[in-house]
Amino acid sequence: MSIPTPHIGAEHKECFAKTVLMPGDPLRAKYIAENKLESPVLVNEVRGMLGYTGIYKGVSVSVMASGMGMPSIGIYSYELFNFYDVENIIRVGSAGALSPTLDLYDIVAAAGACTNSAFANQYKLNGTFAPIANYHLLRTFDDTAAELGINVHIGNVVSSDTFYSADKDSDAQWRDMGVLAIEMEAAALYMNASKAGKHALAVFTISDCLFSNKATTAQERQTGFDTMITAALETAVKL
Ligand code: HPA
Repeated sequence: MSIPTPHIGAEHKECFAKTVLMPGDPLRAKYIAENKLESPVLVNEVRGMLGYTGIYKGVSVSVMASGMGMPSIGIYSYELFNFYDVENIIRVGSAGALSPTLDLYDIVAAAGACTNSAFANQYKLNGTFAPIANYHLLRTFDDTAAELGINVHIGNVVSSDTFYSADKDSDAQWRDMGVLAIEMEAAALYMNASKAGKHALAVFTISDCLFSNKATTAQERQTGFDTMITAALETAVKL
């Protein structure tokens, strides 16, 4: 396929940096570009899935929204990896805590992403694929966060096809398997990276705790998000 693709309007491969930060929300992409990058240039606005490329500490970095759920991040990450020569995608999202060890605004890095999705069926594997983070990205993020004094919880997450599930037992079952948190995109991102021979990492701030009634304020969410973004951008400049 040639570029622009059906979903990304950028005219040239060079419109994207080798590393792309991917929040789910297009307005988060805009926020990161306008507040954290120098000289941001809008490179995509097809379907409002805003993408920008700018400079962070002298290094070109892109940020583009993924939308919600595995079909959506599946499309955008596939096109970035395979048609725009992007090397690294760092998902910067929010997740719901399953583990009682997590608190609001904690930062989680997904070493692995379990899933209830059928995304892997396309590969026709004779078994269950284990979607994992790229170790270099994961290690660089963890080291960078440590330098910044930020604690990172590293482990499994579960990427769910449903936010509103009829199955009321499944969250507890994933929790009982030691899964830290629930979100909706990492597994597809990791599979696309594996298939393309590229690198992916998904990191999250905890926005809700499924087994306690802790609530967040908008200001607290913003501060937690900023901390994670700083760690992700500082990681990007080392890649
Ligand atoms: N479920 C799925 N995705 C999420 C959640 C959740 O509770 N919180 C943030 N992303």
